[in-house]
Amino acid sequence: MDYTDDRTLKDKVFPELERELPRRRMAHVLAVTLMAGHLARRHGLDPVRARLAGALHDSARAWPDARLIRYVRSRRIPVPDFDFIRRNQPVLLHGPVSADVARKKFGVKDREVLSAIAKHSLGSVRMTRFEKLVYVADFLSHDRSFKDAPRLRRLAARDLDGAYRESVRQKLRFLVDRGVPIPPECVRVYNSLFPPG
Ligand SMILES: [Fe+2]
Ligand SMILES: [Fe+2]
Repeated sequence: MDYTDDRTLKDKVFPELERELPRRRMAHVLAVTLMAGHLARRHGLDPVRARLAGALHDSARAWPDARLIRYVRSRRIPVPDFDFIRRNQPVLLHGPVSADVARKKFGVKDREVLSAIAKHSLGSVRMTRFEKLVYVADFLSHDRSFKDAPRLRRLAARDLDGAYRESVRQKLRFLVDRGVPIPPECVRVYNSLFPPG
């Protein structure tokens, strides 16, 4: 498929996603697509690539846990701490799985678009600016209504690294507040951004 402009998103990608994703999730996907394009323009990155990553970042988000786990195994997709995530929060596998779906089903070849999709659920200690942008766009899209979201959106418009740092911190806090286990990769990412001393 030709992803050099947005037409393919409208004509092919969104209609396909609409068949799999519940309405609310689809609204989120559109909001992330818009936010990714917006942030890309602000920060001198390519808005077409950013919107493509935004459009496809959650393509496997509605899959049942068992299907995500099966898919990761059968396609041998590398996932940090796979056993921990499989047991505690299999939903987080939708990042790496959505990247594989983007490549296989939607024919995306752009490696950074694919890695940004793969990393949006867990984060990573190594993130390019583009990958950070997609992570942040997912967390700060306009369908997100947590208290700090407006402040973080303002921050993201001028400071991508700062917004990424804050997004990682907030996400971790949500997990702690819910009393659920923290994936080791999320802790590693946090520690890399908030080093001791
Ligand atoms: Fe996601
Ligand atoms: Fe998302």
